[in-house]
Amino acid sequence: MREFNITTTVKEYAFEELPEADRSLVEAAKEATRTSYVPYSRFHVGAAILMADGSVVAGSNQENAAYPSGLCAERTAAFYASASHPGMAMKKIAIAAWTRLHAPEGLGHEEYFQASPISPCGACRQALLEYEAAHGTIEVILYGREKTYVFPSVASLLPFCFTDF
Ligand code: THU
Repeated sequence: MREFNITTTVKEYAFEELPEADRSLVEAAKEATRTSYVPYSRFHVGAAILMADGSVVAGSNQENAAYPSGLCAERTAAFYASASHPGMAMKKIAIAAWTRLHAPEGLGHEEYFQASPISPCGACRQALLEYEAAHGTIEVILYGREKTYVFPSVASLLPFCFTDF
Protein backbone atom coordinates (compact mmCIF):
# COMPACT_ATOMS: atom_id res chain seq x y z
CA MET A 1 0.00 0.00 0.00
CA ARG A 2 1.15 3.50 -0.77
CA GLU A 3 -0.46 6.80 0.08
CA PHE A 4 0.21 9.99 -1.78
CA ASN A 5 -1.12 13.53 -1.96
CA ILE A 6 -2.44 15.42 -4.92
CA THR A 7 -1.79 19.12 -4.72
CA THR A 8 -3.16 22.05 -6.66
CA THR A 9 -1.60 25.48 -6.55
CA VAL A 10 -4.21 28.21 -6.76
CA LYS A 11 -3.42 31.91 -6.95
CA GLU A 12 -5.84 34.21 -5.11
CA TYR A 13 -6.01 37.81 -6.28
CA ALA A 14 -7.93 40.91 -5.39
CA PHE A 15 -9.46 42.02 -8.71
CA GLU A 16 -7.20 45.09 -8.92
CA GLU A 17 -4.12 42.87 -8.55
CA LEU A 18 -4.92 40.76 -11.61
CA PRO A 19 -2.80 41.33 -14.70
CA GLU A 20 -4.53 43.70 -17.13
CA ALA A 21 -5.17 40.95 -19.73
CA ASP A 22 -6.92 38.82 -17.12
CA ARG A 23 -9.00 41.76 -15.88
CA SER A 24 -10.29 42.38 -19.37
CA LEU A 25 -11.13 38.68 -19.83
CA VAL A 26 -13.06 38.81 -16.55
CA GLU A 27 -14.90 41.89 -17.82
CA ALA A 28 -15.85 39.93 -20.95
CA ALA A 29 -17.16 37.07 -18.77
CA LYS A 30 -19.18 39.55 -16.68
CA GLU A 31 -20.56 41.14 -19.84
CA ALA A 32 -21.51 37.69 -21.15
CA THR A 33 -23.78 37.13 -18.13
CA ARG A 34 -26.13 39.62 -19.82
CA THR A 35 -26.83 37.01 -22.50
CA SER A 36 -27.81 34.22 -20.08
CA TYR A 37 -31.19 32.59 -20.62
CA VAL A 38 -32.09 31.60 -17.07
CA PRO A 39 -35.86 31.69 -16.48
CA TYR A 40 -35.61 28.66 -14.16
CA SER A 41 -32.57 29.29 -11.94
CA ARG A 42 -32.24 33.09 -12.26
CA PHE A 43 -28.51 32.37 -11.89
CA HIS A 44 -26.56 34.24 -14.56
CA VAL A 45 -23.19 32.77 -15.56
CA GLY A 46 -20.80 34.11 -18.18
CA ALA A 47 -17.59 32.61 -19.56
CA ALA A 48 -15.02 34.24 -21.82
CA ILE A 49 -12.24 32.35 -23.58
CA LEU A 50 -9.02 33.94 -24.81
CA MET A 51 -8.05 32.24 -28.07
CA ALA A 52 -4.49 31.78 -29.36
CA ASP A 53 -5.03 34.52 -31.96
CA GLY A 54 -6.01 37.00 -29.23
CA SER A 55 -9.71 36.95 -29.95
CA VAL A 56 -12.23 36.41 -27.17
CA VAL A 57 -15.19 34.05 -27.45
CA ALA A 58 -17.90 34.39 -24.83
CA GLY A 59 -20.86 32.28 -23.79
CA SER A 60 -23.50 32.13 -21.10
CA ASN A 61 -25.74 29.54 -19.53
CA GLN A 62 -28.79 28.60 -21.56
CA GLU A 63 -31.63 26.82 -19.81
CA ASN A 64 -34.56 24.82 -21.10
CA ALA A 65 -37.94 23.73 -19.77
CA ALA A 66 -36.64 20.18 -20.18
CA TYR A 67 -34.06 21.02 -17.48
CA PRO A 68 -31.18 18.67 -18.39
CA SER A 69 -31.24 20.01 -21.95
CA GLY A 70 -29.81 23.34 -20.78
CA LEU A 71 -26.10 24.07 -20.92
CA CYS A 72 -23.62 25.79 -18.61
CA ALA A 73 -21.82 28.97 -19.66
CA GLU A 74 -18.43 27.24 -19.81
CA ARG A 75 -19.50 24.59 -22.31
CA THR A 76 -21.52 27.09 -24.34
CA ALA A 77 -18.36 29.21 -24.64
CA ALA A 78 -16.00 26.29 -25.27
CA PHE A 79 -18.19 24.70 -27.93
CA TYR A 80 -18.76 28.06 -29.59
CA ALA A 81 -14.99 28.71 -29.50
CA SER A 82 -14.21 25.35 -31.08
CA ALA A 83 -16.96 25.70 -33.67
CA SER A 84 -15.91 29.23 -34.66
CA HIS A 85 -12.12 28.62 -34.47
CA PRO A 86 -11.68 24.90 -35.23
CA GLY A 87 -8.43 23.47 -33.92
CA MET A 88 -7.27 26.73 -32.33
CA ALA A 89 -5.78 26.61 -28.81
CA MET A 90 -7.76 28.19 -25.98
CA LYS A 91 -5.33 30.00 -23.67
CA LYS A 92 -7.53 31.14 -20.78
CA ILE A 93 -11.12 30.97 -19.60
CA ALA A 94 -12.69 33.45 -17.18
CA ILE A 95 -15.98 32.74 -15.38
CA ALA A 96 -18.30 35.10 -13.50
CA ALA A 97 -21.80 34.72 -12.03
CA TRP A 98 -24.51 36.76 -10.34
CA THR A 99 -28.02 36.33 -9.04
CA ARG A 100 -30.59 38.51 -7.32
CA LEU A 101 -32.00 35.48 -5.47
CA HIS A 102 -31.31 35.60 -1.71
CA ALA A 103 -29.77 39.08 -2.15
CA PRO A 104 -31.07 42.36 -0.78
CA GLU A 105 -33.11 44.62 -3.08
CA GLY A 106 -31.69 47.82 -4.48
CA LEU A 107 -28.00 46.96 -4.86
CA GLY A 108 -26.02 48.16 -7.87
CA HIS A 109 -25.65 45.57 -10.68
CA GLU A 110 -22.00 44.98 -9.76
CA GLU A 111 -22.89 44.01 -6.21
CA TYR A 112 -25.03 41.07 -7.32
CA PHE A 113 -21.96 39.22 -8.59
CA GLN A 114 -20.90 36.36 -6.32
CA ALA A 115 -18.53 37.47 -3.55
CA SER A 116 -16.64 34.18 -3.83
CA PRO A 117 -15.93 32.58 -7.20
CA ILE A 118 -18.07 29.81 -8.61
CA SER A 119 -16.27 26.82 -10.00
CA PRO A 120 -17.12 24.88 -13.18
CA CYS A 121 -19.14 21.69 -12.79
CA GLY A 122 -17.57 18.30 -13.44
CA ALA A 123 -19.06 17.99 -16.92
CA CYS A 124 -17.62 21.38 -17.94
CA ARG A 125 -14.21 20.45 -16.54
CA GLN A 126 -14.22 17.26 -18.61
CA ALA A 127 -15.29 19.12 -21.77
CA LEU A 128 -12.62 21.81 -21.29
CA LEU A 129 -10.01 19.17 -20.50
CA GLU A 130 -10.37 17.63 -23.94
CA TYR A 131 -9.47 20.94 -25.62
CA GLU A 132 -6.58 21.33 -23.19
CA ALA A 133 -5.27 17.83 -23.94
CA ALA A 134 -5.50 18.52 -27.68
CA HIS A 135 -4.14 22.07 -27.90
CA GLY A 136 -2.32 23.00 -24.68
CA THR A 137 -2.86 24.39 -21.22
CA ILE A 138 -5.94 26.51 -20.49
CA GLU A 139 -5.63 28.81 -17.47
CA VAL A 140 -8.85 29.07 -15.45
CA ILE A 141 -9.81 32.41 -13.89
CA LEU A 142 -12.72 32.29 -11.43
CA TYR A 143 -14.01 35.76 -10.61
CA GLY A 144 -15.53 36.80 -7.29
CA ARG A 145 -16.07 40.34 -5.97
CA GLU A 146 -13.89 39.66 -2.96
CA LYS A 147 -11.35 37.28 -4.48
CA THR A 148 -10.44 35.80 -7.83
CA TYR A 149 -8.85 32.37 -8.15
CA VAL A 150 -6.45 31.50 -10.93
CA PHE A 151 -5.82 27.82 -11.63
CA PRO A 152 -2.87 26.97 -13.86
CA SER A 153 -4.80 24.46 -15.98
CA VAL A 154 -8.07 22.60 -16.35
CA ALA A 155 -6.32 19.37 -15.32
CA SER A 156 -5.43 21.01 -11.99
CA LEU A 157 -9.20 21.27 -11.35
CA LEU A 158 -9.82 17.68 -12.34
CA PRO A 159 -7.39 15.21 -10.79
CA PHE A 160 -7.54 11.66 -12.11
CA CYS A 161 -9.38 12.87 -15.14
CA PHE A 162 -10.29 10.67 -18.07
CA THR A 163 -7.75 11.32 -20.81
CA ASP A 164 -7.54 7.94 -22.49
CA PHE A 165 -9.37 9.10 -25.57
N1 THU B 1 -24.08 26.96 -14.27
C1 THU B 1 -23.14 27.39 -15.17
O1 THU B 1 -23.47 27.91 -16.25
N2 THU B 1 -21.84 27.23 -14.84
C2 THU B 1 -21.38 26.77 -13.65
O2 THU B 1 -20.19 26.71 -13.44
C3 THU B 1 -22.34 26.33 -12.63
C4 THU B 1 -23.76 26.33 -13.02
C5 THU B 1 -25.50 27.19 -14.61
C6 THU B 1 -26.35 25.98 -14.85
C7 THU B 1 -27.73 26.55 -14.57
O3 THU B 1 -28.18 27.24 -15.73
C8 THU B 1 -27.49 27.57 -13.48
O4 THU B 1 -26.10 27.88 -13.54
C9 THU B 1 -27.86 27.12 -12.08
O5 THU B 1 -27.24 25.96 -11.76
